[in-house]
Amino acid sequence: MPDPQLVLAARVQDALAAAFGPSHADTDPVIRPSQFADLQANVALPLAKKLQAERGEKQNPRAVAEEIVAHLDVADIVSDVQVSGPGFINLTFADAWIAGQAQHMLADERLGVPAADYAQTVVVDYSAPNVAKEMHVGHLRTTIVGDSLVRMMEFLGHKPVRQNHIGDWGTQFGLLIEHLLDIGEDAAREELSRGDINEFYQAARAKFDGDPGFAERSRRRVVALQAGDPETLRIWQKFIDDTVVYINKVYERLDVTLTDDDLAGESKYNDMLADVSADLEASGVAVISDGALCVFPPGFTGRDDQPVPLIIRKSDGGYGYATTDMAAIRYRVNDVKADRIIYVVGADQALHFQMVFAAARQAGWLPDSVRAEHAQIGMVLGTDGKRFRTRSGASVKLTELLDEAVERAGHAYDEVNHDDSFDAATRDDIARKVGIGAVKYADLSVARDSEYIFDFDRMLAFKGNTGPYLQYATARIRSIFRKGGLAPEDATGPIVLGDPAERALALELLGFGAAVEQAFDLAEPHKLAAYLYSVADAFTTFFENCPVLKAPDEATKASRLALCAVTLRTLDTGLGLLGVQTPERM
Ligand code: ARG
Repeated sequence: MPDPQLVLAARVQDALAAAFGPSHADTDPVIRPSQFADLQANVALPLAKKLQAERGEKQNPRAVAEEIVAHLDVADIVSDVQVSGPGFINLTFADAWIAGQAQHMLADERLGVPAADYAQTVVVDYSAPNVAKEMHVGHLRTTIVGDSLVRMMEFLGHKPVRQNHIGDWGTQFGLLIEHLLDIGEDAAREELSRGDINEFYQAARAKFDGDPGFAERSRRRVVALQAGDPETLRIWQKFIDDTVVYINKVYERLDVTLTDDDLAGESKYNDMLADVSADLEASGVAVISDGALCVFPPGFTGRDDQPVPLIIRKSDGGYGYATTDMAAIRYRVNDVKADRIIYVVGADQALHFQMVFAAARQAGWLPDSVRAEHAQIGMVLGTDGKRFRTRSGASVKLTELLDEAVERAGHAYDEVNHDDSFDAATRDDIARKVGIGAVKYADLSVARDSEYIFDFDRMLAFKGNTGPYLQYATARIRSIFRKGGLAPEDATGPIVLGDPAERALALELLGFGAAVEQAFDLAEPHKLAAYLYSVADAFTTFFENCPVLKAPDEATKASRLALCAVTLRTLDTGLGLLGVQTPERM
């Protein structure tokens, strides 16, 4: 079901073509929200200027607007058309049309959102913690945003291919493996699967810096690892496996859809790096500079206007992060057959990705038909406005952070007097959904490329654009049905719009499909969050003004119940696409 705004836009374009000729069929009708109607089309103003230039005589925009209106065929959807001011066309949807569309959503299990005609294969590179470095709260954000994108794609009928590009390769593994052997495999397993990755690394690092014998062993170990020594590879693999146990705990806690099948870390591309490098050299895309093999994509200059290199092979013969990304992009285009590749990665890597994309285009590995984009993720800050850390200054362990969110949600729950008293399991389930949902929603409701302050008090608030506020709206609707002794599925309408709050809610609901489409297209989940927030707001106004179970008559009651049911499913589905669960009761 198309968005009301798009429906109108198409009608206005038809009118433009009919009035001024087919060349105007693609003119932007300039549809905007209106103070005096649902929408206004402002195309008459720019069009008058254009016609004036074409015809060489003065054109009155008001007359142009009248001309458009004369050709406008909207009787089935619009109840009022007015030309106002210098030539605005004010349009008010017919209540019956809005009601009919809402009724259609109610009857359709996809809420009127059609599955895509063509299922795009979209690689989503997200989460990607580093096995041996710090796994920080920023990875929480790349995980949550990426996961929401794949959920939207699945809903829209596309084919997301999850790629968890974990940092599982590099010279740091020399000291990590030696340290692992020193403390024993079992003790290491314990520590790593608990998530004490930073501590583990720091201990290894300290030995490396203070113990020349250890440092030497570590260097030899790197050589053995790169040479594919079986025993070294075995220990390396164990190291990865133990760390993945921890990562998976975080994923499970967060209810994200990543599994071991989606692991496609840096090491996956090891065997391709020599070819990547040779091919880029042979084609002349990469050249030797100071002993290193580099691509210099045009347009990237640093200080003193010097071209910035993308290093493919270091002067010591080693490959790096960029080489791996070049291999990955070629693999994703050729083997995965991606139509689109989205990298959900920190904004600080913007230059890296711009250069990788440019180099891949230069090499012919990334055809114009494939869209590659860096969905930039802003930094997470503490309430002090600085990089998010614990009070002691250590980095925050992700599981502990989530535990705290759930605990706080539980306390908040206990402070409120509830009409129904729930057993402990129900209470814990609510605390979990609200706590985790609050963290996820806080992340998804701000533009992903902006920094945001990780503030438990704000994200757990029941007012404002928060997870709990939206969850509460769904719980309220469920409670209406419970009190009425009905299931939401029993509400079949018919929907009839009387009160302005009913009409406003229904009109808002019609925008669901467009909101999901837009959030997917721009890879910006916050667009969907903002939409859901306006639905919840429209519902709150409706709820305050329009008694449902105590409606004045049966027909009104049936209609309001149906509106409640569509609202519930819209919020529930929408929050589901953000990866936020809704508790039955709150
Ligand atoms: N592991 C990297 C980091 O934590 C992110 C990897 C992103 N994906 C990629 N293809 N480079 O910064």
